[in-house]
Amino acid sequence: MSQVSSFTATPDHFHLPKEIDVSHKTTIKAVNLEGEIAKADDHFVQLEKFVLENWDCGSINLVSETDLLKSFDRLCDFNCTILKYARWTKDSIILKVVHKTSQRAYAIKVHENSFKTCRRNYHGSNRLALNRCTHLSNVYGAVRIASAKGKFYFAVIYDFVVGSTLDQALLRKDLTNQQAIEGLIDLSLELKREGFNIFLKDRTDFLVTVTKEIVITDWDKMFRTHNTNSVETVESKCKKFVKFMFDEENIT
Ligand SMILES: Nc1ncnc2c1ncn2[C@@H]1O[C@H](COP(=O)(O)OP(=O)(O)OP(=O)(O)O)[C@@H](O)[C@H]1O
Ligand SMILES: [Mg+2]
Repeated sequence: MSQVSSFTATPDHFHLPKEIDVSHKTTIKAVNLEGEIAKADDHFVQLEKFVLENWDCGSINLVSETDLLKSFDRLCDFNCTILKYARWTKDSIILKVVHKTSQRAYAIKVHENSFKTCRRNYHGSNRLALNRCTHLSNVYGAVRIASAKGKFYFAVIYDFVVGSTLDQALLRKDLTNQQAIEGLIDLSLELKREGFNIFLKDRTDFLVTVTKEIVITDWDKMFRTHNTNSVETVESKCKKFVKFMFDEENIT
């Protein structure tokens, strides 16, 4: 039997999904209605139960998008679509699930339990600290499940973020280079305050919301350290990262 490391609901991860309003997360948190808080928690519990009952211990092929999608026939409260297909072995599959009544949207990322950084972040104090950050997609919990061969996977349940990837947003001139740099600096400094550095590596890790906030959805890119980057280093890394996106050979 697989060991389950799902997480007990604690108030820290009861932020509203960023789809609703990412720019006022702090305010929303302060004035949050009890009903809203209960709903996000209820959805997590419902999705967690669904995952354990339908995906664990070899009940499903965890690397098949079709099988994952089909399994949602058994969960009539949510609509499910594929957000991201796996492109190679070990690549994640990401589903978008929308609660039919409330229209709240979540993402569920299914990946092998072999990525140390995100595995650490999904747990305990790291998750609490990261969920305090406004520029991150909140993780409600990560459920450890096993394939038929006994290989472990994580199904991570987190907020769906409405937006376009940073590189696309820049190409379309939805925001200027300077705004992108400033947004990334805000994000990195917020993480620094919580004791994390961030890998600025992959431009598709960042989404730009309608309010032009930059949000990172990939929890594999933050790592806790006693030695966070200085403000100067943060600024220089953010500038280089935005410049990198516009080097001719990097434009796709
Ligand atoms: N919570 C989310 N809300 C909206 N879109 C998301 C979310 N999570 C992931 N995505 C979409 O899926 C893409 C890949 O997400 P992510 O970087 O987390 O996965 P990954 O397995 O690391 O994939 P990649 O190798 O492409 O970076 C993002 O660029 C984004 O378009
Ligand atoms: Mg990524």
